[in-house]
Amino acid sequence: MSKILIAYFTASGETRKAAERLAKLSGGDLFEIVPETPYTDTDVNYHNPLARCNKEWALRRKVPAAGKAPHFEDYDLVLIGFPIWYGCAPNVVNSFCSGYDWTDKKVYVFATSGGSGIGKSGEKLMPYIKGAKILGARRVAGADELRDWADAVRAE
Ligand SMILES: Cc1cc2nc3c(=O)[nH]c(=O)nc-3n(C[C@H](O)[C@H](O)[C@H](O)COP(=O)(O)O)c2cc1C
Repeated sequence: MSKILIAYFTASGETRKAAERLAKLSGGDLFEIVPETPYTDTDVNYHNPLARCNKEWALRRKVPAAGKAPHFEDYDLVLIGFPIWYGCAPNVVNSFCSGYDWTDKKVYVFATSGGSGIGKSGEKLMPYIKGAKILGARRVAGADELRDWADAVRAE
């Protein structure tokens, strides 16, 4: 059985709920990815063209992640979770991923969204997790779905 890390970013709490449930079901450890400058509600109000999130996206700004996941090297399997932003992972998730050696890690990607599917958000993470193998990427919604998926994760 793999030692599992669940590293997730959340702006409004949905992805945290999924991550916490996955942690319970899989026995994995949780790490919350937090930007060096945390987002306020105003920052993520994407209806406002001048909101921080829209500017970062339009200008492809780097959004550094605060802190480091402890003992990252000890984990065999990493679940990376985030809300879909503009069809893929928020920039801070890329920054988080860039900070580690991913050689031979197994990775599952999960996301919550307002409706968009997982799309290519798994593939788009690849440049930031070089040497890792993505076993699957999916949008998670209901609790039953999470349970079925956690069974597969635990079997790794
Ligand atoms: C900046 C921003 C961009 C978003 N872009 C999308 C999108 O492209 N497609 C989608 O379905 N939902 C989009 N959403 C909605 C979130 O993916 C959705 O509400 C998610 O579950 C929020 O997760 P959280 O509570 O963990 O932050 C976006 C939300 C924000 C704040």
